[in-house]
Amino acid sequence: MSRGRKVVVVGSGGREHALAQALLESPSVHEVVVTPGNAGTQGPSAIIGKSLRNAKGRAFDVAIAEKPDLVVIGPEQPLCEGLTDALSAQDILVFGPTGRASRLEGSKAYMKAFAEKVGLVTARYRIVTDGDELPQAVAQFSEPPVIKADGLCGGKGVVLVDSHDQALEAARNMLSGQPFGEAGRKVVLEERLQGQEVSIHAICDGNRAFVLPAAQDHKRIFDGDRGPNTGGMGSYAPAPLVNSDLLRRIEQEIIGKVLEGMRTEGNPFRGTLFAGLMISDAGVPQVLEFNVRFGDPETQVLMNVIKGDFCELLVSAARGNLDTGAVDLSEIHSLCVVLAAAGYPAEPRKGDVVLGLSEATARPSVRVYHAGTQLDGGRVVTAGGRVLGVTGFAPTLQRAANFAYSAVESIHFEGRQFRTDIGHRAL
Ligand code: AMP
Ligand code: GLY
Repeated sequence: MSRGRKVVVVGSGGREHALAQALLESPSVHEVVVTPGNAGTQGPSAIIGKSLRNAKGRAFDVAIAEKPDLVVIGPEQPLCEGLTDALSAQDILVFGPTGRASRLEGSKAYMKAFAEKVGLVTARYRIVTDGDELPQAVAQFSEPPVIKADGLCGGKGVVLVDSHDQALEAARNMLSGQPFGEAGRKVVLEERLQGQEVSIHAICDGNRAFVLPAAQDHKRIFDGDRGPNTGGMGSYAPAPLVNSDLLRRIEQEIIGKVLEGMRTEGNPFRGTLFAGLMISDAGVPQVLEFNVRFGDPETQVLMNVIKGDFCELLVSAARGNLDTGAVDLSEIHSLCVVLAAAGYPAEPRKGDVVLGLSEATARPSVRVYHAGTQLDGGRVVTAGGRVLGVTGFAPTLQRAANFAYSAVESIHFEGRQFRTDIGHRAL
């Protein structure tokens, strides 16, 4: 390891850009390769530098060819498809759970049964595969239930409805296989929980966890939490809703129980366990869902509150021997404003030229993470729904917000959309 570590990051979003940046800044790291990456991980406006380059081709082939010391897998799809297992079989160290452990995210039916088995506080539910059973199943809920497709649907598999009739219709539609194919042939009906949502990330080695400060995401496209759901329009951390007592309770009552349960099943969880929680008005953390990877755009803020050797933390977790001393949590607040393309989330337009990036990235206390961008003859153009994550960091959340929003003002592309109220619950 004399020249330092080489790391391959799999993915192309803002999350992966932020992970790559944090890895590159780790003292033990010499080089980071992102596959397939985006304009921010290869272009002239890259904030990562020359040692980060884009690699083409399938993630598996790239990871084998690069001979890295560590592979970090960003998105859920390759995790659920078993990329960790395939690379581990080639003696490559991977930070990310196995395909079997990834079912915590890949199958909501599995997750609900697991949660029940290990005694987590979660919504009452019922699983339906046969359309004839639906009317009776829906009627069992006194309030209209939430309808969820069992499998991965790119964040679109959850429907919140206002009436039992709408619930019935949404569940019928999913079971028909039309919107989500096989992923929707099994449907979870679930009691609707009330409260405030938070995202808890835990870096796990199978036995132990390093829990990061709580983050909050903003899922709706418009200010005031109105309009359709998106992949996430912004985030901030730490979220004051989760004080240190509550965080400890979540660590013991949720993260700890999951790790123990997965171990008992013979599927120890190594990777990032992301618990999506609804904190009730009485302060009780209830499990909405688990993800088996870092959140996007939560990662964009979390990477700014970690100090030390992030790579060492992930390597030690991947080896099953978590070194919590590798990193420290700073007293920094961070806030990320997502700039989305025209037409997002329904039909994001591509090819709009992005201007003002160098001015924005030159500002102190600002990081601009790329997501849906690509290079087109030296220019950066939009290439996806969420285009950039403009992120500020500072000793207070208000200042972090000011940094992020003034950088937003420097960046322009046709039809850009963003929320002006990121962090409103805490500001
Ligand atoms: P997901 O796409 O799985 O991240 O879930 C989408 C969103 O649906 C969650 O972030 C919550 O806002 C909402 N949601 C899911 N399950 C419930 C529930 N049982 N009660 C209330 N809201 C829910
Ligand atoms: N921001 C939520 C997610 O990554 O699923």
